[in-house]
Amino acid sequence: MRSKRTISALLTLIALLLVVSQPGTAEMLSPQATRQAERVPVVAMQPGATPALQVAQGMNPCAAKANPCAAKANPCAAKANPCGAAANPCAAKSGGPTPIRADSIRDHGKLVAMGKDLWNDRKLGTSGLTCMNCHVNHALLNLDMTKGRFPHFVKMPNDIVTLDQMINFCMVNPMKAKPLEANSITMTAIAAYFNQLVDEYNAKPAAAPGASKGKAKTSGPANPCAAK
Ligand code: HEC
Repeated sequence: MRSKRTISALLTLIALLLVVSQPGTAEMLSPQATRQAERVPVVAMQPGATPALQVAQGMNPCAAKANPCAAKANPCAAKANPCGAAANPCAAKSGGPTPIRADSIRDHGKLVAMGKDLWNDRKLGTSGLTCMNCHVNHALLNLDMTKGRFPHFVKMPNDIVTLDQMINFCMVNPMKAKPLEANSITMTAIAAYFNQLVDEYNAKPAAAPGASKGKAKTSGPANPCAAK
């Protein structure tokens, strides 16, 4: 009888031990696990949000509050625009763009006439010569255009030059003058008359008796600058 009770008690003890040692049961009983399970929905909770949003807001690391691209921070906002009209360097300061010279000219015929006078003006330099002393009858100007347009190579300066640079070369050397100001009306007028000479030369009838076009035009006074 006694052994029967003992066996029964033992069996009960073994059954109890089996139930308690179940891992799931043990966790569910742990007070720490219970607190953790309660915390999750608290984090996700936002007032007025749908359940899906509650979860999203709880987990979303880019939640609206922290948005680094919010309109406020826009570095291209109109205020800071460096191309704004106020900063335009071409904006009219006092009614127009900066002119290249104080006196402007718009009459081309007048400009060419002014240029013709200058090509014949001894006072342009200090050598006592005029441009026309050397360039009369289209001499030494290479007007047949075999060299092409400016800038082209010219033997005397031994360089490739623009028309204006060549004019200044003759100003400084044969004319013994100061170079002309690039933006001066004098420079523009002398250049305009040079083009007039080109047009005159090329409009001439090809065969004047006894004179071959190219040769006749390039003959002139002996080159006074050659010896240097
Ligand atoms: C003492 C003579 C002399 C005088 C004065 C003179 N030049 Fe010249 N000019 C020359 C010679 C020489 C050349 C070079 C020709 C060459 O090397 O092919 C030349 C070349 C030029 C050319 C370039 C022609 C080309 O090859 O396309 C121009 C333009 C010119 N002269 C303009 C002028 C002007 C403008 C003046 C007056 C401000 C002037 N010259 C005064 C002698 C003169």
